[in-house]
Amino acid sequence: RIITYGTFDMLHYGHINLLRRAKKMGDYLIVALSTDEFNWNSKHKKTYFTYDKRKQLLEAIRYVDLVIPEKNWDQKVNDMKLYQIDTFVMGDDWTGKFDYLSEKTGIKVVYLPRTPEISTTQIKKDLNSRKPVLKHDSSTSKRER
Ligand code: CTP
Repeated sequence: RIITYGTFDMLHYGHINLLRRAKKMGDYLIVALSTDEFNWNSKHKKTYFTYDKRKQLLEAIRYVDLVIPEKNWDQKVNDMKLYQIDTFVMGDDWTGKFDYLSEKTGIKVVYLPRTPEISTTQIKKDLNSRKPVLKHDSSTSKRER
């Protein structure tokens, strides 16, 4: 059983890559999705989509088995026990930050390489500056776009 945490606002292929690789590490993937309040009060992020909309999108992805709310920084140790987690996965922008979970609960902690050049913040910036969308993804054919 695998768990990952995040905001997943304006879902993009970097998120999908992360979820696909996380699911491959086991057979049940839980996404702890940051609530709007947690994003605003603690992560200083204003999401474009509400928690319910972000949850619906994640639930529509075949790699995701369950979405639970992430309401604060301190729930992780309890989540590991409650959901009987074997492996905790995050992108490598968080490297080292959650090693304590392994020490405290004995679970495996894995940081996966981020997909380069894409983030929700970057999408917002590109749209604001009217840069062509999807310029990063040369593997996508014109028809698919
Ligand atoms: N992630 C990834 N590759 C990307 C973007 C995100 O692997 N290009 C991973 C993050 O490391 C994290 C998860 O996806 O484990 C959710 O990240 P989140 O912060 O919600 O996405 P970002 O696009 O990075 O959002 P923001 O720009 O608001 O930080």
